[in-house]
Amino acid sequence: MSNIIPIDLLALSTNLNYLSSFPALNTAEPAVSLLAYNTTFATNVLGENAKARQLYDLPWQAFHEMGTYHKATNSIYITSNWNGSLENPINVTVLSLEDYALSSTHYPNLYEANGGTGYYPPGSSNDSTPPKLLFCDQGDFEHPSGLVAVDPATNTSEVILNNSLGRNFSSLNDVRQHPKTGDLWFTDADYGFFQSFRPAPAVPKQVYRFEPSTGVIQVVADGFDQPNGLEFSPDLQTLYVTDTGAQHVTQNLTRPATIYAFDVVDKVRLGNRRTFAYPDNGFPDGIHAETDGNVWANCGDGVHVWSPQGILLGKIFVGAQSNNMAFIPGGVLVFSNSQLWIVENIKAEGREICRDFGAC
Ligand SMILES: *[C@@H]1O[C@H](CO)[C@@H](O)[C@H](O)[C@H]1NC(C)=O
Ligand SMILES: *[C@@H]1O[C@H](CO)[C@@H](O)[C@H](O)[C@H]1NC(C)=O
Ligand SMILES: *[C@@H]1O[C@H](CO)[C@@H](O)[C@H](O)[C@H]1NC(C)=O
Ligand SMILES: *[C@@H]1O[C@H](CO)[C@@H](O)[C@H](O)[C@H]1NC(C)=O
Ligand SMILES: *[C@@H]1O[C@H](CO)[C@@H](O)[C@H](O)[C@H]1NC(C)=O
Ligand SMILES: *[C@@H]1O[C@H](CO)[C@@H](O)[C@H](O)[C@H]1NC(C)=O
Ligand SMILES: *[C@@H]1O[C@H](CO)[C@@H](O)[C@H](O)[C@H]1NC(C)=O
Ligand SMILES: *[C@@H]1O[C@H](CO)[C@@H](O)[C@H](O)[C@H]1NC(C)=O
Repeated sequence: MSNIIPIDLLALSTNLNYLSSFPALNTAEPAVSLLAYNTTFATNVLGENAKARQLYDLPWQAFHEMGTYHKATNSIYITSNWNGSLENPINVTVLSLEDYALSSTHYPNLYEANGGTGYYPPGSSNDSTPPKLLFCDQGDFEHPSGLVAVDPATNTSEVILNNSLGRNFSSLNDVRQHPKTGDLWFTDADYGFFQSFRPAPAVPKQVYRFEPSTGVIQVVADGFDQPNGLEFSPDLQTLYVTDTGAQHVTQNLTRPATIYAFDVVDKVRLGNRRTFAYPDNGFPDGIHAETDGNVWANCGDGVHVWSPQGILLGKIFVGAQSNNMAFIPGGVLVFSNSQLWIVENIKAEGREICRDFGAC
């Protein structure tokens, strides 16, 4: 028996209270529900055997951003939420996939980490899994924002970028490595300033492309309120960028909470900006594609999943803000700050599962 709840879109179309008729969506207790807005979500995306449960509910917000697997240490690396003090800097939360044991750590040269990805430094073979992790460091009042490569097997690190042709970034938010070119595509937003640990921004909110082998850096998109998560489609023809402009110091839902799509031109530029999706709850933050091309983003009540045409297929509803997630083979870990959820036995496969787990 499937435990996926079908949502009747026509019933919802003319009944503002339709969703409140589901007890599972209206409990004050932490709870996870799988909602199918399209039957394909139950049959093809999650599959009828998908099962969700909570792994952790902690007294601090260990599960906020990133969510990258590193094979040599068999662990997922997650960044914690900012806790309001430079005395208690953002943790890297290490979740062992051996037994789901947790630990918190910090790496040298990494001050206030946020998004990240697996990283092949120039010259490394991409026949194996990524040897390193790449973190966006938002920086602080003393240290500039940039990209920091970490080897979690040795706890060593290297700053590979900490300015843009001589100008400071505001606070880098998230990054992806293009699997064919090795280039790093990343976003720069104002959250370090909004959270009072960075100076006032001195550049616009932009998306950049950086070549770690040559130092070439290029602005590839602007016109955002707050560019945040970014992700390639599995065919690498599209780049998705989330705009979390609805959240500054406070939330204002008349500002963007929107996913934009761009064509990736000649593997180095962007064109044809268009609106891809707008969620019905909160703002889309972290974003990941699955190998079938569906797009998963973390929103105000959990994970929303859209078809490549931008139609909502379903949700992993956790009833609380979610900022990122991590695909694992046959499953997905959903972060909700103090809470960590897992959905097992799913059919969907994350775009980078093959690369990160060496499970092709
Ligand atoms: C459900 O999703 C599939 C796959 O994206 C699509 O072809 C179909 O038209 C959708 N059905 C409805 C009723 O939206
Ligand atoms: C810092 O963390 C503690 C423990 O989770 C929490 O009670 C407090 O509200 C947090 N402060 C901020 C500013 O996030
Ligand atoms: C980092 O983790 C420790 C527990 O391991 C916790 O006490 C501390 O508040 C955490 N800091 C943040 C910013 O999450
Ligand atoms: C750039 O950031 C560094 C480190 O935070 C700081 O020392 C420097 O003054 C900044 N440069 C400008 C032009 O603001
Ligand atoms: C790296 O740091 C973690 C704790 O933060 C520790 O458990 C591990 O042994 C360290 N590894 C090395 C090679 O020092
Ligand atoms: C930028 O990174 C380099 C390499 O780690 C470091 O030497 C330099 O001091 C950094 N710049 C600033 C302003 O901290
Ligand atoms: C990685 O491997 C692919 C083949 O799968 C190749 O086309 C590509 O150029 C390689 N990328 C780098 C950065 O070496
Ligand atoms: C919300 O933002 C809009 C601009 O999008 C602004 O006009 C409005 O005053 C803001 N509302 C509040 C309550 O700040």
